[in-house]
Amino acid sequence: MSEDRVIDTEDLPTNTSQNEHFQRVVERVSSRRGFLKSGIGLSAAAFLAGPLAACAKLGDGPGQAAPLLGFQAIPISTQDTVRIAAGYTATVFAPWGTPLFPGAPAWKADGSDDAAAQARQVGDNHDGIHFFPINGSSTEGLLVMNHEYTTADDGDYIWLFGADGSKPWTADKAAKAMNAHGVSVIHIVRDRAGKWEIKLDSQYNRRITASTEMTMTGPAAGNALLQTKADPSGTRVLGTLNNCGNGWTPWNTYLTCEENFNNYFGTTSGKDARTAAQKRYGLAAASTDYRWEAFVDRFDYVKEPNESNRYGWIVEIDPFDPSSTPKKRTALGRIKHENAAYALSADKRIVVYMGDDQRDAYIYKFVSDGFYQEGGDNAALLDAGKLYVARFNDGKTDDDFMGVGQWVLLNKTGNATLAADERFANQGEVLIHTRLAADAVGATKMDRPEWVSVHPSSGEVYVTLTNHDKRKETDAANPRAANIYGQIVRWREAGGDAAATAFEWDIFVLAGNPVKYPDRGDLKSGSANITADNTFNSPDGLAFDQAGRLWIQTDGKYSNSGEYEGQGNNQMLCADPASKEIRRFFVGPKQCEVTGIAFTPDSKTMFINIQHPGEAGDSHWPDGGNAVPRSATIIIAKDDGGVIGT
Ligand code: FEO
Ligand code: CA
Ligand code: CA
Repeated sequence: MSEDRVIDTEDLPTNTSQNEHFQRVVERVSSRRGFLKSGIGLSAAAFLAGPLAACAKLGDGPGQAAPLLGFQAIPISTQDTVRIAAGYTATVFAPWGTPLFPGAPAWKADGSDDAAAQARQVGDNHDGIHFFPINGSSTEGLLVMNHEYTTADDGDYIWLFGADGSKPWTADKAAKAMNAHGVSVIHIVRDRAGKWEIKLDSQYNRRITASTEMTMTGPAAGNALLQTKADPSGTRVLGTLNNCGNGWTPWNTYLTCEENFNNYFGTTSGKDARTAAQKRYGLAAASTDYRWEAFVDRFDYVKEPNESNRYGWIVEIDPFDPSSTPKKRTALGRIKHENAAYALSADKRIVVYMGDDQRDAYIYKFVSDGFYQEGGDNAALLDAGKLYVARFNDGKTDDDFMGVGQWVLLNKTGNATLAADERFANQGEVLIHTRLAADAVGATKMDRPEWVSVHPSSGEVYVTLTNHDKRKETDAANPRAANIYGQIVRWREAGGDAAATAFEWDIFVLAGNPVKYPDRGDLKSGSANITADNTFNSPDGLAFDQAGRLWIQTDGKYSNSGEYEGQGNNQMLCADPASKEIRRFFVGPKQCEVTGIAFTPDSKTMFINIQHPGEAGDSHWPDGGNAVPRSATIIIAKDDGGVIGT
C-alpha cells in the first residue's frame, strides 16, 4: 500500500504500551563512527564469522571468483517508465483488468466494467507474487499474486469506476471493489521466443476475492469472538482483505497475508462504538474510504462486531486445486500481516517469520508442533504450534552495532504473564488479539516491520523496517529521531536453528541520503554501504534468490526533492549479504511502489509488481498517451538468457 496515500492506517501509531522502542536499541548500537565509515567493522566481521561467512562464497564455484552482483548499477529515474540494468529486458504483464477466463470481457478503460466482469479479470494493485512451476518447469507454471486494495481516498475511488468515482455509490460498485481485491491464480506459459502468455482455458485459473468462502482453522477457529449472525460456527468466512505480501510453503501452497483489514470496517450508525481491541487494530470510528459498509452489513462493526476479527490472518491457498477452500490459519496470529517467510528447524518443523506493519509494531515467528515430511501430508502443519514475538536487546558490548534477542512465547498456559491476564480467556483470544498479548509480554517496538526473508543457505533472517517518521523518542546525539529512511535488520538464530528462542542481530543497512546529508557522521546519511549512487528510502519488499542475492524493493517518497533528493522513483536494488554492497537494478514509473518478488526455478525469469502507478494523478503507465495508469506485473529476463542478477 502506498507510502504517500493521504489516508494510510500504517501512519497511525496504535501501540500505547511502554515497551522499549527498537530505535533506542538501534541508536545505542549504530551511532558508532565505525559503522558509518567502514561498512564492516570488527563486530560485523564477527557476525559474518558465523553461518553467513559461508554465504560469502555463494555464487563462487570451485576455482571461480564470479561476484554475486554481476550487473552494472543504474542511476535514479523520475520518468514515467521502467528502467532496468543494461543487458536486461522488463516486459509488462497481466495489468489490472486482464481477462483471466475464456470469454471474460476485455478491460474497459473508462471504468465501466461491472462487478461480474471484475470477478473474471485480474484484480487491482498487485503485491506479493509467487511462481509455482508445473512439474519443475521454468517455462510453465502458476503465477499467484495478491491484489491488495483499490485506490480510494477521502471516500472516493480514484480509478476503479473511471470519472464517476463513487458517485453514485451503488451495490454493484461495492461488489466490484470487493472483486478487485484478493488473489489471482494465473496459468502462464513461455513460448520458444521467450514470450509469456496466459493459458486462458486452464483449469487452474482462479480469482479469489473479498467474497470467496474460506475456513478458519487452528486454535481460534470457532471461538466466540469469531462467531457472527451469518456464521454462528465461527469457522466459515467470506473473503480475504488487503492481501499485501505473501509466502509459500515447501508443500506448494501459497500464503497470502491480510494487512490493513481495519480499513474496511466502519459504521453508518453515526456513533463511535469501538472496543479497546478494535482501536488497537485501527478500525475507523465512522465511515471508511471503501464504503462497503453502506451495502454489506458485515462491514459495519456496530451491526456485526465480530466480523473484523475474521481478518488479519495468514491464509493458505492450494493453487493446484481450484476447488479448494482457502484456510485462515489462526495459529499464526492476527496482526497486520506483511509477508510470511518460512524456514525449517533443525528437526524439520516449519517456522514462519512475520512482520506486523505499523509504527511500533512487532516481529513474530511461528514454530509448528509437527514435522515437515517431503512428499507427505503437511496439510495441518500450520494449525498447531508456538507463536513467539521478538525482543531485541543490545547484548554484552556497548561499542558495536549488534545485539541479542529473545523469542517470547505467546501462549495462555505457557506464559505466566498471559496466564494471569484476564483479558485473554483462552489461547484463541490470545491469537485473535495477538497485538495485545505481545504488548503484555514486552515485545520490542519496531519501525514498521515489512517483509522478512531467510537466506537460502545460512538461514539468517532479514527484515525491512520501512520507516517511522513520527517516532517521538529523541536523542540529541542522533539526529535521526524521526526515521524517514528505514533500515534492514538481520538476525541469526542460536545454534543456527530456526526453532531457537534466542538470536543475535545486527543492522545490515541503515538507509539514508548522503546527497542531502554529505556528512557521513550524520545518521541521516545512512550506513557506509549507502552512497550517492544507491541512495533510497523506505525498504519494503525483500527476498533472497537461490544464490543468496538480496533483492530490496522500495515503497517510499518519490518526490526526488528535499529529504528525498537524488532518490527518484521507487525502485529495486540488489545486495551482497557478505560485502554489504548494494546496487540499483530497476526503477519503476511515477508514483508507484515496487513490490513482490518471484523467480522461475532456473532463476532466469523474475516476476515483480508495479503497484499504484500515478496514485497522485501523474502517470499513464503502462499504456501511455492519456491512458489510466494500471498496476501490472513486470517480467524480467536477461538478454543472454542468464541468471537474473549476474
Ligand atoms: Fe502492504 Fe506494509 O505494505
Ligand atoms: Ca509492503
Ligand atoms: Ca510500505
